[in-house]
Amino acid sequence: MPSNLQILLDTRPVGEASAGNFKLVTAETPALQDGEVLVRHHFLSLDPYMRGRMNDAKSYAAPQALGQVMQGGTAGEVLESRSPKFKPGDTVVGMGGWQQFSVVNAEQVGALRKVDTAHVALSHYLGAVGMPGVTAWYGLVKIIEPQAGQTMVVSAATGAVGSAFAALAKARGCRVVGIAGGPEKCQYATAELGFDACLDYKQHADALSLSKALALACPNGVDGYFENVGGMVMDAVMMRMNAFGRIALCGMIAGYDGKPLPMSYPALILMSRLKIQGFIVSEHMEVWPEALKELGTLVATGKLRPRETVAQGLAAAPEAFLGLLKGKNLGKQLVKLI
Ligand SMILES: NC(=O)c1ccc[n+]([C@@H]2O[C@H](COP(=O)([O-])OP(=O)(O)OC[C@H]3O[C@@H](n4cnc5c(N)ncnc54)[C@H](OP(=O)(O)O)[C@@H]3O)[C@@H](O)[C@H]2O)c1
Repeated sequence: MPSNLQILLDTRPVGEASAGNFKLVTAETPALQDGEVLVRHHFLSLDPYMRGRMNDAKSYAAPQALGQVMQGGTAGEVLESRSPKFKPGDTVVGMGGWQQFSVVNAEQVGALRKVDTAHVALSHYLGAVGMPGVTAWYGLVKIIEPQAGQTMVVSAATGAVGSAFAALAKARGCRVVGIAGGPEKCQYATAELGFDACLDYKQHADALSLSKALALACPNGVDGYFENVGGMVMDAVMMRMNAFGRIALCGMIAGYDGKPLPMSYPALILMSRLKIQGFIVSEHMEVWPEALKELGTLVATGKLRPRETVAQGLAAAPEAFLGLLKGKNLGKQLVKLI
């Protein structure tokens, strides 16, 4: 069996996460037992939720254990199989974690999923046609419930979730406005992702200024908001929400280092009769097949052309992850392992 480079969570962050929280080690790969499969990871997915799990705090999921391989989504190929469900050469996605290889119990429901790479590249199964894409789908379809002609806004607009959100909302006949960090991201949003407009929040000193810019980009107000960030950006959009607007609260990345992230105008929830609903995509597995079908078709037909930022080699994972938390990624952040 191959030796296996792994990245462990070594220490918990205090405030911002740093490279020193991680440790690179080499481990032996155990021999396969009946029902098990050896997977070689081609891509590792880096996702903002991993930052929350590095803390030992109350959350919807258990914290990442110290001294254990960092958990995370992976896409790769089966090298060896002692399960009738998989054969060598199958392309698969799973939760293999920050390591080159994983031994997976293929009998465990949902542990490993075969994917077809004929029309959709393997890496997209970690992004637009994977967990981030389904996240956008759930928030839009099940919480915001858009109607054609309505205006949708999404923050972290050019990321893995935001870019899928744009394609899904455009397919439903909506006006879609993004909020992203920097002119390059905003240019990409309108030129390639189909956004009708994109605002660079870094050009605005406060929520009032961003809100004024939003009023110009959303002349009919905002009917649906997909929130990825929190803080000043959320305040600005809340000021532009129409009566009976819906907010899908997906993430609050501006507060993931633990700083308080106050909401400045909660009275707007009452005055505008808003629905605000948080959600965790893994708690809605019933929608995944329908969502993945639509997302797969959008990518295969070129209607969604998601970009990726790809770091090379497992050792690059910590820096790439820290970069993701600072907005250095354009589109889905991956690590390529082979
Ligand atoms: N609820 C769920 O089940 C679920 C599932 C998946 C993801 N999520 C959440 O969805 C959000 C997007 O995830 P993703 O995977 O698509 O990541 P992503 O958007 O590809 O990358 C994160 C982006 O967040 C933005 N950002 C970082 N720090 C920020 C700050 N202080 N203020 C404003 N923006 C900041 C950056 O974009 P800019 O340069 O544009 O600022 C960065 O590129 C995250 O909040 C994540 O936690 C939730």
